[in-house]
Amino acid sequence: MIIVCDQCKTRFRLEDSAVNREIFKARCAKCHHIFVVDRRPPDETPLVLQEEQILPDANYKILTICNQKGGVAKTSTCINLGAALTLHGKRVLLVDFDVQANLSDQLGVSGKRSFYDVLSMESTSELSKVILRVEPNLFCLPSNNKMALLPKNCLSKKGFERILGEHLRRVASFFDYVLIDTPPSLDFFTINALMASDFAIITTQAEYLALKGVGHVENIIDVLRQKTGHQLDYKILINMYEPENTASQAVCRALKRRYPAHIFATEVTRDVKVQESQILRSSVIRYDPKASASRQYLALADEILRFQT
Ligand SMILES: Nc1ncnc2c1ncn2[C@@H]1O[C@H](COP(=O)(O)OP(=O)(O)OP(=O)(O)O)[C@@H](O)[C@H]1O
Ligand SMILES: [Mg+2]
Repeated sequence: MIIVCDQCKTRFRLEDSAVNREIFKARCAKCHHIFVVDRRPPDETPLVLQEEQILPDANYKILTICNQKGGVAKTSTCINLGAALTLHGKRVLLVDFDVQANLSDQLGVSGKRSFYDVLSMESTSELSKVILRVEPNLFCLPSNNKMALLPKNCLSKKGFERILGEHLRRVASFFDYVLIDTPPSLDFFTINALMASDFAIITTQAEYLALKGVGHVENIIDVLRQKTGHQLDYKILINMYEPENTASQAVCRALKRRYPAHIFATEVTRDVKVQESQILRSSVIRYDPKASASRQYLALADEILRFQT
């Protein structure tokens, strides 16, 4: 496991077998600060916030991870980028805004309640109880199958495209980053997520058909800009990249040529450790900090922190 000094933010690798307690104190070898390490499994502790803990002018960022194409690592990026940001000392909320509830499943949280329930909640403390803590600095607003009713209930309402944003802003300032996972479509869910966000990450595989998927998201972002004035910037993340595969290399070059200002320098390669970590309901960073995907998600978090601060 990786532990992080909460004062100087230095990261240390600690063999799981070295300590047999779930909560223990550690002394940072760099700054000598003593800090508490909590490695209890997800306990689904609800977050309970009071109105006074919500600071209206706090500096938080909301990012959507999207692509209308399925299986391009949207959910994996959401979980692993979130985990990487927590290692930078950030407090992160992951929003599962997909009826498939893959993100909730992979974090091992039950979707007894979801954003669907939030709609009828008046007070901030009631709303915040739907948010579950999965790691000390990582939280999840889960999904469940009631979310399928959202479009039917909301589409006829004026301003339906802002519903997620309006409710998220009630709690967002408690976090540094809010990452929204979306379904493989550009419908009610993704449009709401984009409207709630400061920034979009379009994940794509380096495959021929993926070029089209990226273009569709880009068009929707343009339409939202024109119709609503919502100025949303975006970057493309190439995921499951296969550096040895010539077709993969060609598509990667094409993406970089077509979107020179809109592509992350970091690429996430195909790595079986990501799949293994999902079986264990963990981020790959927690499962194997030395895996190439772990290093790449940490580099992605670095890139995001550099241009978002
Ligand atoms: N870097 C990686 N290396 C290998 N496999 C990966 C990697 N990232 C994701 N995967 C695998 O690819 C599959 C799809 O990933 P994921 O569920 O994150 O995609 P998605 O875009 O969220 O899918 P959906 O469109 O269904 O929501 C999963 O089986 C996941 O384990
Ligand atoms: Mg998904």
